[in-house]
Amino acid sequence: MAQLEARNGLAGLRVLLGVSGGIAAYKACELVRRLREAGAEVRVVLTENAARFVTPLTFQALSGQPVRSGLWDEAAEAAMGHLELAHWAQHIVIAPASADLVARLAHGFADDLLTTLCLASTAPLAIAPAMNLRMWAHAATQANVATLRGRGAAFLGPGEGRMAEAESGLGRLLEPHQIVAELAALRGPKALTGKRVLVSAGPTYEDIDPVRFIGNRSSGRMGFAVAQAAMEQGASVELVAGPVHLQTPAGVARVDVRSARDMREAVLARAQHSDIYIGAAAVGDFRPHEVAAHKLKKTGGALTLSLNENPDILAAVAALKQRPYVVGFAAETQNIEGYARAKLERKKLDLIAANKVGEGEGFDACQNEILLISRDGAERLARADKLALARQLVERIAEKYADWESSNGNRKDTGRARSKARAPRRTRMRGK
Ligand code: PMT
Repeated sequence: MAQLEARNGLAGLRVLLGVSGGIAAYKACELVRRLREAGAEVRVVLTENAARFVTPLTFQALSGQPVRSGLWDEAAEAAMGHLELAHWAQHIVIAPASADLVARLAHGFADDLLTTLCLASTAPLAIAPAMNLRMWAHAATQANVATLRGRGAAFLGPGEGRMAEAESGLGRLLEPHQIVAELAALRGPKALTGKRVLVSAGPTYEDIDPVRFIGNRSSGRMGFAVAQAAMEQGASVELVAGPVHLQTPAGVARVDVRSARDMREAVLARAQHSDIYIGAAAVGDFRPHEVAAHKLKKTGGALTLSLNENPDILAAVAALKQRPYVVGFAAETQNIEGYARAKLERKKLDLIAANKVGEGEGFDACQNEILLISRDGAERLARADKLALARQLVERIAEKYADWESSNGNRKDTGRARSKARAPRRTRMRGK
């Protein structure tokens, strides 16, 4: 299915693949193969350092096209000049992109063939970075990434995991199949153009005293991935985020909150003006009855906290007179479908994404799987990285939303211009 979607988006696409120097350069070989399998025509440009890791001959054999490296190669220029190559490209993909290349692109350098092509081409640019975790996290790199994003470049990854230096963290090149899927998503039809999507993500913190709080293990990854996927589908996205350490997806407007009541206020202030609300946040169900003004001291015995129940944000949004299409999440450890269905009914939701949590699942994990439940049926979205899963989820939400919008009598027009754009109809949910 993913491969089919990739084919649809990439068939016949002329991809200029730039490869920069780094140990991950070997993965670009498989990327060439996968892009061609997806129907793309691929021409490879290596930086001087990339050619130290993988020979041009390898890429030539895989792409079936001459490989370019230098700016001053007379024979290559005679066959296809670099400006012609820049014009030929319909999408430039750089994988892997080193920290140095990201910096040179951000500053508009044109001191080798690849950077020159990037400046000379009007094709969209997709950058798949690969570098040491500290290089990726460095303020200089992040400023360069922000500059490039601001100019419209898409960043594919980086991924998280083990690196060549036996360290683990953010900075790994995405796997070739993920890069192909991300590129297909960038090229695919946009199902939510003109729509306003509100997403909540992350945990809430309920203060006990000035130094302690009740929180939970939500990292915010799932909700941030949903926000990014909705933005990729053309929506204008607002993300209400609890306390998390995540970068805001480019193009998404973020509002930071701390407690469940802060989150409720931020969500309710926006919900009536939104077309879709997706509640992926792990909202704390309880808060201390009182927040101590000073740090609580040990007394040598047990501390008893009295807790009050927090308001239910999702149910409040679903109860609004002018309500958006409401999608909840259900985090369950057992009887997933039964409990999720009960939440769908009790909170009067349109759709609920049930996921299993506990023992490295759901919370704070890089992957997830979802049972998507509506009143008409249920569909399983198989285990995948949260972003890949979020993309599938948002596609399904867009389809269901389009049905709901066309038959919906209970949502009054909020007065703002509403786009007539419809999501493409594809998968129907299977009956239970
Ligand atoms: O953040 P990650 O580490 O990536 O983990 C993702 C996740 C597991 C947190 C996410 O996929 C998820 O399941 N989010 C919902 C977690 C949750 O609070 O589930 P629940 O079953 O307790 O709540 C059901 C729904 O009601 C949720 O949409 C929740 O946002 C909402 N809710 C709950 C309580 C409350 N007071 N207000 C609410 O709106």
